[in-house]
Amino acid sequence: MPEFRLTQISDTHLARRFTRLTENFARVAEHIGADRPDLVVNTGDLAFDAPTGKTDLEFAKELHDALPVPVRHLPGNHDIGDNPTEVGEAPKQPVSEAHRQNFCALIGEDRWQFEAAGWRFIGLNSLVMNSGLAIDAEQFDWLAGELSGANGKPIALFLHKPLFLDLPDDPETIGTAIRYVPQPARQRLIGMIGRADVRLVASGHVHQRRDFTYRHTRHVWAPSASFILSDKRQERIGIKETGLVEYRFQPNSFEVRHVKAAGQVDIDLDELFANPKG
Ligand SMILES: [Fe+2]
Ligand SMILES: [Fe+2]
Repeated sequence: MPEFRLTQISDTHLARRFTRLTENFARVAEHIGADRPDLVVNTGDLAFDAPTGKTDLEFAKELHDALPVPVRHLPGNHDIGDNPTEVGEAPKQPVSEAHRQNFCALIGEDRWQFEAAGWRFIGLNSLVMNSGLAIDAEQFDWLAGELSGANGKPIALFLHKPLFLDLPDDPETIGTAIRYVPQPARQRLIGMIGRADVRLVASGHVHQRRDFTYRHTRHVWAPSASFILSDKRQERIGIKETGLVEYRFQPNSFEVRHVKAAGQVDIDLDELFANPKG
């Protein structure tokens, strides 16, 4: 029976100046080298902060290129800037077409589709959603075609930002957008997912591990491969640890394993700032 093994890493936040984060990536790379999945997907925030650290994305690319298996990437807010929201302040580093094109030129496509083991896999750029950029509408048109063209194959969707906490109409999440895909794009995306056979939505961004099922879709939040945020900085809504996620896809089914690479350390961001080199 064909099987496709995919390892999701996320929020690697690489920068040459933060050697402790590079060490965590090295532990992840060793794990991947021993396990040899068919594909690694990084669901965004490859760079520590590309909008302010010009070489961070180049450094992230160097390390990802050295992985011994094929890799696909998706942008995070620290790679191309963040989404504007309907309410609240504009993000300090808003997403822009120039940032997006820089990502595409250096790293590769910011959205993609492929098929393996009887599944259709779709990767989305969640940061352009609600941005008003032409690419936002274009991506939604493209997604509609990719969902309807699955020809009965189950679909696994990858993107940086999760869709919601527990339910689409959670009072805690409905109006906010820093943590989730912003409204009204979120509602549109949830509607499209609900009408298609999307069995998995795999995200990153929050730096907390979560795994739950809503209707026919399993939502997996990959932890950061790199660092965690203290309770002072961020409320605890999942498991605060560094790690990665391993998937095994077979026609019509899949398995999920929550993993931590040997030697991967739960570095706290505040502690990192105080002591960047350890
Ligand atoms: Fe992140
Ligand atoms: Fe993020």
